This record gives sequence, structure tokens and C-alpha cells, in this order.
Amino acid sequence: MAKAKVTFSDVNVTVNVPVGTRIIELSEAVGSYIAYNCREGDCGVCLFEVIKGQENLSELSKEEKAVLLARFHEIMEGWRATNNLEALQAKMQRENFIGKHCRLACQTQVFGDVIVAPI
Ligand code: FES
Repeated sequence: MAKAKVTFSDVNVTVNVPVGTRIIELSEAVGSYIAYNCREGDCGVCLFEVIKGQENLSELSKEEKAVLLARFHEIMEGWRATNNLEALQAKMQRENFIGKHCRLACQTQVFGDVIVAPI
């Protein structure tokens, strides 16, 4: 069976897994800080950043795209309500990458080598 190498940069762990494995199946096992909730592609909590190897992941489905859009809108709404300057600055720093290379861990399968991180 073909294998893929997945590196979780936050915990500096690399695992070799069968192609087709979902990121969420691995992140919990290696202790990565990629959060999750529903595990079914509904909540959008399991956002993660693809640092390298985006081309080695399953294609973004219409359903995943819709959940990502909803989650980004939710994040942006939260920013408007923030009155804490430090919290807002921290969130603005993250804005630089949110949305550019984000996927949902419970929906994304690996088909080749990738490097990922929590958002
Ligand atoms: S855990 Fe809910 S969308 Fe992935």
C-alpha cells in the first residue's frame, strides 16, 4: 500500500501513513493542537494550515468550501466584537494566512507528503 509522510510542525512529529488517511485521524494520535468538534465537516472547528504539499491533499469539495466560508465569516464577526487590543492584534496576525492554505482536518485526506500546522 502506498504511503504518505505527514509532518505536524507544532509538535515536530512526522508519521508515515497509508494514502487516503484523513488528517484528523493523525492529529489526535500525535498530540497536535489541531482542534476538532463534530468530525463530520459541519462545524469548521478543525481548520488547519497546509505549510507544504497542498497538491498532495484531496480536492476541496463544495461542502468543505461552504463550511470554510461560514467559519471565516464567523471569525470575522468575532473580530468586530473584540474590544481587547492585544487579542485583536493577535487575531490580525493570524489573518495573514487564514483562508489561504486552510483546510478542514476531518475532510482532508493525504495522498503524498505534507507539512501541516494548527491555526
Ligand atoms: S471537526 Fe467539525 S468540521 Fe471538522
